[in-house]
Amino acid sequence: MLQERIADLSKFVEPDRVRREVYVDPAIFEIEMQRIHERYWIYCGHESQVPKPGDYYAVQIGRQPMLMVRGNDRQVHVLYNRCPHRGNLMCGDRHGNAGDFFRCSYHAWTFHHDGRLRTIPMMESGYAGTRFGPDNPDCSMKQAARVESYRGFVFASLAAEGPGLAEFLGESRVAFDDMCDRAPEGEVEIVPNCFRVIQRSNWKIFLENQLDALHPSVTHQSTGRAAREVEQMIEKNTGQAPLSYHMLSAFATVTIDKWDGFQTLNYPYGHCILTGYMGLRPKDPDTLAYEAVMQKAYGRKRMEEILGVNLHHVLIYPGLSVQSPLQQLRAVRPLGVDRTLTEIWHFRLKGAPEPIYRRSLAYYNLVNSPATLVNADDLENFWKCHQGLSSQAGDWVSFGRHFGRDLEKPGVTETAPNMGTSEAPMRNQMKAWAQFMRNGQ
Ligand code: FES
Ligand SMILES: [Fe+2]
Repeated sequence: MLQERIADLSKFVEPDRVRREVYVDPAIFEIEMQRIHERYWIYCGHESQVPKPGDYYAVQIGRQPMLMVRGNDRQVHVLYNRCPHRGNLMCGDRHGNAGDFFRCSYHAWTFHHDGRLRTIPMMESGYAGTRFGPDNPDCSMKQAARVESYRGFVFASLAAEGPGLAEFLGESRVAFDDMCDRAPEGEVEIVPNCFRVIQRSNWKIFLENQLDALHPSVTHQSTGRAAREVEQMIEKNTGQAPLSYHMLSAFATVTIDKWDGFQTLNYPYGHCILTGYMGLRPKDPDTLAYEAVMQKAYGRKRMEEILGVNLHHVLIYPGLSVQSPLQQLRAVRPLGVDRTLTEIWHFRLKGAPEPIYRRSLAYYNLVNSPATLVNADDLENFWKCHQGLSSQAGDWVSFGRHFGRDLEKPGVTETAPNMGTSEAPMRNQMKAWAQFMRNGQ
C-alpha cells in the first residue's frame, strides 16, 4: 500500500519546486533510507579517529548502527554493530578500544576486528552437529558491502553495486584535496571529539541550508552586527581586532548583493560547491609564518596554487558538508523524518604552526558549534520550516530563485554571473534525490 501510494515519486519533485511530503511523510523517509542512505557512499569518519588496532567509532548509516574499526592488519573495517548470536549491539559506547578482538557482553561470542567469528564458549560441545560454527558466515559480524577511503576520509556503502567512491565523489573530491593540501605534510588529523546536535527537522532542510547564500545576511544579521560592534570597539582601543571576530562580523558586512557575486557549481549525484567569500589570507604574522612553512614544503608555485583555491563550502550529497579552508566537516545522520543528528568535526593541518590550528578552532567554536548564536539562528529556522511544512497551508516548497538561468556545461551546472544566491544547489540536490529514489525501485 505504501509503495502504491507513492509509486510515482516523480510527482513529488519538479525542477523548481518540491512537494512538502518529501520532508514530513514518514513513509517517504523509510524509502529514502533504503534507496539513498543505505545504498550510496556515506562518510564514516577519518582514519585518524582509529589510530590503534581495536580502536572503534560507532556511526549511523541510514537506519543501521555501524562500527568503524582499525584491525590488527592496520586496515579500517566497517561492520554492522550487531552480534550474530541473538542480536546484541556489539559496542554500546560511541567509541573506544575493543582490545585484541570484539567480545559480546551477552554470551561472550568473540570476533576478529574484520567481523569474522573467533570463538564461541564451549563451541564443540554446544554446537556439534548444528548449522552454527566458524564456517557459517551467519555466525560472523556482517561487514558493510563496500568500504573505501579518500585521503584518509573513510566512506562505506551498504550496497554491493553502484559507482565506486572516486566516481561518486567526482569533483567534490576537491573538499578533501583542498583540506589536505593546506597541510605542509599533506595530511590532516582529527581533533576528537565532535559536537553532536539533534535537530528537530528533516535531514534535507539542513543540507539545503548549507549553500543557501541568501540566508546568512538575513538569518545571521543580528549575530554579525553584534560581533561587528565588538570588533570595532577592539579595533578602536588596540588598533587591531583578532581575526576570529571577522568570522562572525562577516555575516553583517557581506550583504545580499555581495553574496550574489559568488558562484555555485552543481555536479552529478547532488554534490555542490559555493565559492569562497572570506579573506583567509591576511598579512598577519601568523599567516606569514604559515606561508613560510608551506613554501618550504611545496615551493612557491605550488603553495600559491594551494592557497589560491577559493572554496567556502562543499556539499557531498547525501550527508556531508565540508568547509575545507577552515578544516571543518559536518556529517548528517537522519534519525527519523523529523529528527536529524549532525556531527560537527574539525581537523588539524599536520605540520602547520599552532596559530593556524587556533584559527580553525575559533571558527569551529564561533560558527559551527552548538554554543554559538550562528548555530542557534539556523536551528530555529530548521525547526520552524519543519513545523510549517507539517501544516496544510501549502503543498509546495519553492526552489525558483534564478531558475532557468543556470549555465549547463559538461558535467557541471553553474550559476550565471552575479547569481550566487541562486537556489541551483537545492534544485541539484532534489534532482539527485529523485534519481536515487527512482533507481532504487
Ligand atoms: S547475543 Fe552476543 S553472544 Fe549472545
Ligand atoms: Fe546559517
